[in-house]
Amino acid sequence: MSRAFADICFTDSVRAAQHRYGSRDGNRGFETAADPRAELGETEQAFVAERDGFYQASVGEIGWPYVQFRGGRPGFLKVLDPRTLAYADVRGNRQYISVGNLDADGRVALILMDYAARRRLKIWGVARIVELGAADWPTALPAEAGVERAIVIDVKAYDWNCPKHITPRFTEAQIQPRLTALQLEIERLQAENRQLRDALGADYID
Ligand SMILES: Cc1cc2nc3c(=O)[nH]c(=O)nc-3n(C[C@H](O)[C@H](O)[C@H](O)COP(=O)(O)O)c2cc1C
Repeated sequence: MSRAFADICFTDSVRAAQHRYGSRDGNRGFETAADPRAELGETEQAFVAERDGFYQASVGEIGWPYVQFRGGRPGFLKVLDPRTLAYADVRGNRQYISVGNLDADGRVALILMDYAARRRLKIWGVARIVELGAADWPTALPAEAGVERAIVIDVKAYDWNCPKHITPRFTEAQIQPRLTALQLEIERLQAENRQLRDALGADYID
């Protein structure tokens, strides 16, 4: 057994590079691992469910990779089952580069970031387009205004990256509770300051 991501990524030239730079032996373990990690486990499913965006790479017809960001409300990328993800693709700039790429080749690579917790999940899959109103439209997806189609991804592999070099970043929603607590503390201190100044009265020199 091997890790599914190694089956996809450890091509001849990648193996040759590992050999050239002395990491071939270290990477062989991925080719003999017991768990292929082809299905999303509970940890991965929970991670996906919390994300409000991800990067999606598709493959152009002449072989160029194309990476685009997809964003939405947390959880807009749905886990339909451990081997299937789906999201509602909304009307955007109408270049349709990702969609056009997927028409020709469904292979995608996703990167899902949790900057605050410095976690990064990579997912490989094969995507297909489901048009609005089609019989196989995933019921978990909202067919609300702006939605043009569903992208359904057959998951093939996943892997986690190490946190090194991920700069912690926080969303407004994540820092707001701390800012509110600080604001309340400032207001309390300002009120206390006013009381102390009043108590000093004429003796107070600014
Ligand atoms: C009106 C409008 C709405 C958009 N809404 C979204 C959105 O909800 N999510 C998103 O990731 N990008 C959104 N975008 C950004 C891009 O247009 C979107 O990434 C684009 O459709 C990418 O397609 P591509 O594969 O051709 O690059 C929006 C853009 C416009 C002009």
